[in-house]
Amino acid sequence: MNKKITIAIDGYSSTGKSTIAKQLAKKLGYIYVDSGAMYRAITLFAMQCDFVSQDHLDTQGLVDNLDMAKLHFKFNKALGYAEIFLNDKNVEKQIRTLEVSNLVSKVAAISEVRKKLVAIQKSIGKNKGVVMDGRDIGTVVFKDAELKLFMTASAETRAQRRFDELIEKGEKVSYEAILTNVVERDKMDSTRKDSPLVKANDAIEIDNSHLTKEAQFEMILELVEDRL
Ligand code: DC
Repeated sequence: MNKKITIAIDGYSSTGKSTIAKQLAKKLGYIYVDSGAMYRAITLFAMQCDFVSQDHLDTQGLVDNLDMAKLHFKFNKALGYAEIFLNDKNVEKQIRTLEVSNLVSKVAAISEVRKKLVAIQKSIGKNKGVVMDGRDIGTVVFKDAELKLFMTASAETRAQRRFDELIEKGEKVSYEAILTNVVERDKMDSTRKDSPLVKANDAIEIDNSHLTKEAQFEMILELVEDRL
C-alpha cells in the first residue's frame, strides 16, 4: 500500500475537522496540517501589531508587513501532531482564544493573506500523503485531492463542543458568546468574496451531529481505503 493520497477536509467551524484529520494522519502515517491555525496565527500577528481589533482593520498595514510574520510547524512527539510557531514562538495556545476566534474571519477575508497561506499549504502538500483541514482545501488548495470531505453539524451542537473544549482549558466563556461566534464566523466565511466556504462538487458531506467519533472514523477510513 505505497500509494499516497491527499485528503481535504472542509466545513463549518467546530465540526470536528481537526479531530478526524489528526486521527487519519496518525493511522496513515500522513502529515496533518491545520490550515485554520495559520489564519489564526496571522490574526494574532495582526493583533500584536495593532492592525486589527474588534472595531478596526488596517488591511494595508497588515498586507505591507505580512512578510514579517514567519510561520512554521514543528512536530510534537508527545502530542502526535505539529504545532504552529509564529516568529519562532509556539502560539498554539494563544491562537485558540475567543478573542482570536472573533477576529480571524476578518483577517481570513484578505486576499493577500490567503495568497501567502495557500502557497505554503500547496508546498507542504506537494508530495501528497497529507491530511489538511480548513475551508477552501478541496475548492482551492488541493482541487485534485483524491478524497474531499465536507463536515457539518448544527450550530448548537458545535457551540456546545467548543464551549466544553474551552472550559476544559480553563477559559472563562459563556455558551451564548460561543454560539454567536460560531454563527457569525460561518456567515463571514461563507459569504466572503475570496475562496468562500462552499462544498466542492466532488466532496462527500458528513453531518456528524449524531455520530460518535468512533463511528465517524470507521466510516471515513472506509472511504480512504477505497481510494488507496
Ligand atoms: O478551522 P478554524 O476554526 O481554526 O479556522 C479559523 C478561521 O480561519 C475560520 O473562521 C476561517 C479561516 N480559515 C479559512 O478562511 N480558510 C481555511 N482554509 C482555514 C481557516
